[in-house]
Amino acid sequence: MYKNRNCGDITAADVGKNVVLAGWVHRFRDHGGVYFIDLRDRSGLTQVVINPEKSPEFEKLVSDVRVEWVLQVCGEVRLRPEEAVNPNLPTGEIEISAEAITVLNTCKPLPFAINKDENTDESIRLKYRFLDLRRERMQTNLKLRHRVIKFIRDYLDERGFYEIETPILFKTTPEGARDYLVPSRIYPGQFYALPQSPQQLKQLLQVAGIEKYFQIARCFRDEDQRGDRQPEFTQLDMEMSFVERDDVLDLLEDLFTTMIETVTPEKEILFRPWPKLTFAEAMERFGKDAPDMRFGMELVNVSELVKDSGFSVFENAVANGGSVRGINAKGCGGYTRKQLDELTDQAKLWGAKGLAYVKIDQSGETNSPFRKFFSDEKFAELLKKMDAENGDLLLFVADKDAVTFDCLARLRVMMGDRLGLRDPNVLAFCWIVDFPLFEWDDEEKRWDATHHPFTRPRKEDMDILETDTGRVLGDQYDMVLNNYELASGSIRIHERSLQEKIFKLIGLSEEVAKERFHQMMDAFEYGAPPHGGIAPGIDRLIMLLANEPNIREVIAFPKNNAARDMMSGAPSETMDGQLKELGLQLIPQPENKK
Ligand code: AMO
Ligand code: AMP
Repeated sequence: MYKNRNCGDITAADVGKNVVLAGWVHRFRDHGGVYFIDLRDRSGLTQVVINPEKSPEFEKLVSDVRVEWVLQVCGEVRLRPEEAVNPNLPTGEIEISAEAITVLNTCKPLPFAINKDENTDESIRLKYRFLDLRRERMQTNLKLRHRVIKFIRDYLDERGFYEIETPILFKTTPEGARDYLVPSRIYPGQFYALPQSPQQLKQLLQVAGIEKYFQIARCFRDEDQRGDRQPEFTQLDMEMSFVERDDVLDLLEDLFTTMIETVTPEKEILFRPWPKLTFAEAMERFGKDAPDMRFGMELVNVSELVKDSGFSVFENAVANGGSVRGINAKGCGGYTRKQLDELTDQAKLWGAKGLAYVKIDQSGETNSPFRKFFSDEKFAELLKKMDAENGDLLLFVADKDAVTFDCLARLRVMMGDRLGLRDPNVLAFCWIVDFPLFEWDDEEKRWDATHHPFTRPRKEDMDILETDTGRVLGDQYDMVLNNYELASGSIRIHERSLQEKIFKLIGLSEEVAKERFHQMMDAFEYGAPPHGGIAPGIDRLIMLLANEPNIREVIAFPKNNAARDMMSGAPSETMDGQLKELGLQLIPQPENKK
């Protein structure tokens, strides 16, 4: 080894020892003839003192050395003079008096600072990711990720789960995105698809008698990128035989609770047990199926009350089958006209036609553009229904349900932020259950599965599958944390006849269903056990535990927002002859699509 101790672990107990360290020059200071280097390795920093008078080599070194040079330092641990003690540093009591220094490598001028947190453009950070990852924040994130995955593996191992790898070169496994295809050289014109998840394979492992499976699994989805999405990402993929919904939920709740207590004890888990909301209830109360339950400000449906209020915006929305709903932003009654205009513009960007408000000042005086249309009683009723008090701001959207919900859900989160109600150290987990199994695809004029087509309908709804398809609920669940969907799962279909029926309902012809999924249908005829599972997204989990704003910050080598790897430049053109070998030819693309 180039070193016998780590920089971050040396304490006053080591005073008098000779140590050998290796690491990077984090900082370099000249204190009037004596030189100090903060030497950094993964464990932390140690101060090295260099007296150039000791040797001509030292003299040369102190004039040449730059940050991020790689050094090996031999020296004696000694106590710092009292005035130089740094109580903020674990090694702040000691320093190393250098006796020999070897330069292991030099470093070019850096594209950005590693020893402080600067607002560096993300594209530069991603281009030099190998440098970006040296920064303390990124090291902390990668360490946290490792700890979480290690905890999961140990926890599940203790409970009899096997970790099993499943193929990456496989066949289409739909999860609602496009597939990444891999051409086959041996079979020109034929393609593997990278799995959007191991869904089929984990179910097949249940048919194979594995009973308890998990995998830290890579998933591939060609979809538009967002802060919480990457083209390839990692799931804790799980599947179990002979389980019902609550068996899965109880296990996951215990796994996540104990993991967080162990790995991030500074976090507060707000609810125990985690609340279970039906999909319908989540929509009604929060306007979305992944609510932030750290705070109230719930949506209130005032449609009944305002449908004959005299305010045509409200009346029309209800008459056209939509709704009028509002939220109460407590304490925002002092908002200025300008602030309200900004809120309205924001609501319009989210698809609303406008934003109606009532301001209530500290003396109870109200101000609202629609006050004049309402009778005194109606207006008082509305304030009561909204639980309005002096100093409050009521915000209403009137539209089709989809718009009303979406817009108010976003407003609620925005106002929650402004009011400081979204403490990242508070974790409000909840379960969402009883999702509709199908949604109507108006473009294609057919039903589609809301999750994936292997989800089991609830027992109660089996006999309305064909007669009242839109009302069928699935035995399906989402784990939600602080405004994010963290996991989805379900109890699965394990009978061929039911699986065929579902494929038919979502308009998959018999031939297509067979071509794509014959392996599942076949397996279901050979003693497939009842089974179910779930898949939490690891990247989203770490993002929330690390208080990071997007998942790129917790992935070692992520793609950028446009699905490009900025470091290697991938995706890139093929090398000579590769396409020919694969039997492929390119269609020329317009310049701007390259
Ligand atoms: P689903 O498609 O809902 O379910 O995915 C489960 C979880 O994976 C995470 N996730 C993502 N994370 C980052 N980038 C993405 N592009 C991305 N897409 C999904 C989310 C999400 O909640 N096979 C089913 C699970 C099952 O039924 O067991 C599935 O993949 O955290
Ligand atoms: P108008 O009658 O268009 O002047 O609108 C009066 C108020 O109602 C304004 O504050 C608008 O922003 C608001 N408003 C208009 N359309 C809607 C809507 N669909 N939902 C909520 N408020 C609206």
